Amino acid sequence: MNHKHNARTAWLKLLALGSLVLLSACERPPMDTVQHGYRGTGMVQVYNPRIMEGVIEANQPPAPPPPASPDGPRASEVYQNVPALGHLSVGDFTNLMVSMTAWVAPEKGCVYCHNPANFADDSLYTKLVARDMVKMTQTINSDWKNHVAATGVTCFTCHRGEPVPKFVWFKPEGQTAGADFIGNKMGQNTPAPSVKLASLPYDPFTPYLSGNEPIRVNSTKALPTDHVASIAQTEKTYSLMTHMSASLGVNCTFCHNTQAFGKWEGGPPQRVTAYHGINMVRALNNEHMEPLTDTFPANRKGELGDVAKLNCATCHQGAYKPVFGAPMLQDSPGLATLRTAFEKMATAPDASTAAATDAAAPKTQ
Ligand code: HEC
Ligand code: HEC
Ligand code: HEC
Ligand code: HEC
Repeated sequence: MNHKHNARTAWLKLLALGSLVLLSACERPPMDTVQHGYRGTGMVQVYNPRIMEGVIEANQPPAPPPPASPDGPRASEVYQNVPALGHLSVGDFTNLMVSMTAWVAPEKGCVYCHNPANFADDSLYTKLVARDMVKMTQTINSDWKNHVAATGVTCFTCHRGEPVPKFVWFKPEGQTAGADFIGNKMGQNTPAPSVKLASLPYDPFTPYLSGNEPIRVNSTKALPTDHVASIAQTEKTYSLMTHMSASLGVNCTFCHNTQAFGKWEGGPPQRVTAYHGINMVRALNNEHMEPLTDTFPANRKGELGDVAKLNCATCHQGAYKPVFGAPMLQDSPGLATLRTAFEKMATAPDASTAAATDAAAPKTQ
């Protein structure tokens, strides 16, 4: 997204697009409906079968790699520079290199990350990023099971055969209050795909998926005296919710009992999964993506020089579970556990390594 357009061309484009947007906002019937909540609650998922076709096509899993033996010498005994994957058998290691190539750089091949004269060499930025990506993927699969369950993720979940995943976000320019004489429009009235072209703030990501602002709208009392949520906060919350619905291809009732949006009781369990998802995405952006800022070249960064970051669409890509829940992780054991955790398990079999995993329990349940 480029917000640098000058106002005039932006308005001309808007005028031209105006009628198109109006029409495309209405989807042509017939729709399919699937009951989701208890009968009588009206919690129904509405699907557009024509949009679903595209989503299904975009979410097909790749062919699994041929099985490799977990036995035999470790990669660390054979190769020189393998701090992230050295605990794997040589067979599993080689399989993972072949899979990583198919998932991330099928056209360029091994040389997308490797200096072909010396595979141990770390001179390409892509290899450095890939090593951190391995650790990020292992962290998702071992520390965020409360979101990804045993299904887990591989590089394919985000990359789908491309070096740059299809859905990433950068911080937009021009969000500072009083930046010009019209004041701060809070990112509104600029139809953006991030919020399905609604007149909602187009950047729900900086406050919630990078920052840690409260996602609150509802008061818990009947009278408005204790109502702390501002209109701005409310709009940003709806903006995030629109992004979440669109990323998963679902309606609000997938996660909420719409009788009371704020209530956790009586709502579908998916809301709790989504709650962990929000925390996971924030942690991954702050602990894995941001630290890579200096590793990425300038042409990969946003207008403000920030690194590409994740949101719900990066993995989900329109499906309620990424790749419709295909359990790809089981074919790539090297991505299941962080090497450090693996070594702890191997040296101290009695130590309770599992205790630390479920640290982020939901506040209400
Ligand atoms: C997306 C990036 C990427 C692609 C593509 C890739 N690799 Fe790697 N490769 C890595 C990373 C990262 C490491 C270091 C792993 C670690 O730190 O444990 C590595 C390490 C290696 C090593 C160990 C070298 C040594 O002595 O330290 C070999 C061998 C290797 N890769 C072979 C291949 C082959 C063969 C291909 C193509 C089929 C390939 N790789 C494709 C990222 C990649
Ligand atoms: C949760 C989503 C996610 C997963 C899982 C993931 N990546 Fe990435 N990856 C990203 C994002 C976001 C970027 C930044 C995009 C960019 O390069 O501008 C990125 C960038 C990269 C790049 C740099 C590409 C370039 O041309 O700049 C490489 C190489 C890479 N990833 C390899 C991997 C490998 C290998 C795995 C699996 C071990 C993996 N990624 C798993 C999200 C992911
Ligand atoms: C994928 C699951 C999911 C979907 C879809 C979803 N929500 Fe949410 N919603 C959540 C979660 C999780 C929270 C609570 C976040 C937190 O507490 O940090 C929340 C919070 C809210 C709140 C704030 C409630 C409060 O306590 O003040 C409102 C309002 C809301 N959602 C409305 C909507 C609307 C409207 C839609 C449809 C456009 C929607 N949501 C779609 C998961 C979802
Ligand atoms: C790193 C990849 C990744 C990201 C990013 C991600 N998810 Fe997920 N999500 C998954 C996987 C994998 C599953 C499937 C888990 C399973 O099989 O139960 C899942 C499942 C879910 C489910 C449960 C679906 C069901 O039917 O049980 C919800 C709800 C959900 N995600 C919401 C979100 C929201 C909201 C966000 C953004 C805040 C998000 N996810 C970001 C990987 C991701």
